[in-house]
Amino acid sequence: MKEKQIKWIPFYGGENPDLFEIERRCMDRAGKVIQYLDEMLPNGFILDVGAGNGFTAEKLQQENRQIVALEPDEKMIDLSKPLVWSKGVAQNIPFHEHTFDAVYSTWAFLFDGIPDIEDGLKEVERVVKPGGKIIIVDNYGNDEFCSFSPHDISSNVSFWVNRGFDYEVIDTQFIFDSIDEAQKLLSFYFGDKGIAVNKTKIEYKVVAYTKMN
Ligand SMILES: C[S@@+](CC[C@H](N)C(=O)[O-])C[C@H]1O[C@@H](n2cnc3c(N)ncnc32)[C@H](O)[C@@H]1O
Repeated sequence: MKEKQIKWIPFYGGENPDLFEIERRCMDRAGKVIQYLDEMLPNGFILDVGAGNGFTAEKLQQENRQIVALEPDEKMIDLSKPLVWSKGVAQNIPFHEHTFDAVYSTWAFLFDGIPDIEDGLKEVERVVKPGGKIIIVDNYGNDEFCSFSPHDISSNVSFWVNRGFDYEVIDTQFIFDSIDEAQKLLSFYFGDKGIAVNKTKIEYKVVAYTKMN
């Protein structure tokens, strides 16, 4: 039998950690998404799907809350962070069913519109305990940040609502230390529109989808 190929979405952060450092430091500078996740997540055993370098997971980890950081890209995995790391993909989560008290994913594989998202969602539902929480974070859209993109990079709210999720919009901002820094990151994302940016604060709306398993 031919085995289905498990794909992961290539991400620039492993090849260009300096640029990723700007992204993580400046997007949601006020830490509203971390605060939201911190309030919404229970204690216990929590999975972060597509954890990147563990930026979010490290901030959510507490004495009574162990975060397991699942990440496919070896170049992103940062073993200096005091997390439990697991190398793998959303479509084939290397844990038994009902292992986790909650699962979350921030701007990672679980984007609506990607072809095998259903495989990832099924896996998330499999590894969360009955009654455990699932939280997915993405771009909400209708903001200055998404307006720079020639393509629609906003999340499709009705996809998630049809899947039984509630949602909340978090109003935040990219805040850069300088215009140079803003142009460096935004031109990498958006080309000429990014080079033309001449301010350090950019409106950014984030959506968090939640449901109980
Ligand atoms: C935009 S980064 C976000 C990282 C992190 N969640 C954060 O908020 O900083 C997306 C991450 O998803 C990972 N990724 C890509 N394909 C994946 C897949 N199939 N399953 C799980 N993670 C994946 C990438 O390697 C990358 O680290």
